[in-house]
Amino acid sequence: MANPRVHTSVIYTSPQRGRARRREQRALRRATKALAAQRESQESTESQKPSRDPRPSMLPALGENRPEALRQLRTLSLPAHRATSDVLAGAYPFLAEAGLGEAGVFIGQDAWSGGGFCFDPWVLYQNGVLTNPNCLLAGAVGKGKSCLAKSIATRSIALGRRVYVPGDPKGEWTAVAKQVGGATIALGAGTRNRLNPLDPGPRPAGVADEEWLATVAMRRRTLLGSLAESALGRPLSAVEHTSLDTALGTVVSTDDVPTLPRVVEHLLSPAPSSGHEPGGGSVAELTRDGRELAHALRRLVAGDLAGLFDGPSTVGFDPDLPMVTLDLSRIHGSDQLTAMVMTCASAWMEAALTDPDAGQRWIIYDEAWRLIRQPALLARMQAQWKLSRGYGIANLLVIHRLSDLDAVGDASSGARAIAHGLLADCATKIVYQQEPGETPHATKSLGLTSTEAAQLPDLRQGEGLWHVGQRAFIIRHLATDAELELFDTNARMRTRSPGSAAL
Ligand SMILES: Nc1ncnc2c1ncn2[C@@H]1O[C@H](COP(=O)(O)OP(=O)(O)O)[C@@H](O)[C@H]1O
Ligand SMILES: [Mg+2]
Repeated sequence: MANPRVHTSVIYTSPQRGRARRREQRALRRATKALAAQRESQESTESQKPSRDPRPSMLPALGENRPEALRQLRTLSLPAHRATSDVLAGAYPFLAEAGLGEAGVFIGQDAWSGGGFCFDPWVLYQNGVLTNPNCLLAGAVGKGKSCLAKSIATRSIALGRRVYVPGDPKGEWTAVAKQVGGATIALGAGTRNRLNPLDPGPRPAGVADEEWLATVAMRRRTLLGSLAESALGRPLSAVEHTSLDTALGTVVSTDDVPTLPRVVEHLLSPAPSSGHEPGGGSVAELTRDGRELAHALRRLVAGDLAGLFDGPSTVGFDPDLPMVTLDLSRIHGSDQLTAMVMTCASAWMEAALTDPDAGQRWIIYDEAWRLIRQPALLARMQAQWKLSRGYGIANLLVIHRLSDLDAVGDASSGARAIAHGLLADCATKIVYQQEPGETPHATKSLGLTSTEAAQLPDLRQGEGLWHVGQRAFIIRHLATDAELELFDTNARMRTRSPGSAAL
């Protein structure tokens, strides 16, 4: 019989061996020893003879004759084994995650594989990894959300992308914009800046007159509808829609630069000619139907927001700058008020962004939880989300917790469905550590696996669970010292002391 040169052994034995099994094992060991002794004496007799094999003998063919030398009497023949990737990951754990490739900006380190992690929503969208380039970033206060957003922004600028922040309620992006050669438009007390949210924005090349007029009209109507719904706290009725359309139509046809005060004026006292428009109702009907609406919108032109949106724009938007931010830190008041300001401001900025030839741009909604609490704004954002794909825009929505989405409307409301639709339209979800008790909510809303969910409570500052399409990563965001100094939101807290003039 040819000498079988395959040596195998059982390298794992169950600690719960029975007595019979132990006896059997002892007998086997004795037999192995006897056989090995016999082979050894045979080999030593043979070694007395002059050997023809010039190779040095490294290891006895049957292994060393000592305990635990992994010797086995018989060869081991195993059938091919199939298992799920879950089981194999345990059986063969030496597999490293390859990451998403090297395209895009460097984010940090993959905590599981130790490798670098880069991210580029446009490339991943083109490659079919993502169904859209939009991202959601959720995490408790102080966990590093803004820091990550600012790193993504500044590092993307180095790759030729531009960044817009349509509402910065804390004013924390101003220093960043300045550093990268961008601009900040500040609104509110102490500034004389005014934006006209009804500005048409720059007209993209190659768009026919009719199409352009229809686009601008639709944008204006949607904006006014959202503002009115936010102020009223309810959806507009059918007759209110008609009043609004009629007032807007009259202002656009008579004024070179339509403004909010003129729309309010026409809602309160419609022009006599308005009543003759088909389906418009009589002047008396229009006045009655649009009365509540007019008073809701009046808030934006008189009262607490006077001077911000009530005339032609005094500032321009230069879309060629690497970064433009809107500083709203001087606007004080209720969440509802801030949300209305953010809507006007972001609508004004978005109008300037809808140029399909303007390249790839990030639009970052930091502290967006204020916006999504307003159902009307949410609907506008969702429309914007869908449109943006064709314009080369990637939206980044930064919120505190996923339950913010459930604070919208009531359980059966369309608004709640829109909030979840917005979430579904973010193919990349980044979850930072959640507030205590929020993890189950995040798990359910994002459809996380139990393994992914188990990571959430252990995440440290700057660490997040990245859900990119169908794949998940734990990424440590690595920020340079210069970045941390520039992005530091804690600096203001540290310099604050009683009587200090630091703020
Ligand atoms: N990746 C990080 N590495 C080191 N420090 C970080 C990191 N992320 C955040 N920080 C620190 O935490 C502070 C708060 O982060 P910030 O991004 O403002 O939190 P959030 O926006 O989640 O409230 C930052 O000023 C910074 O000092
Ligand atoms: Mg922040």
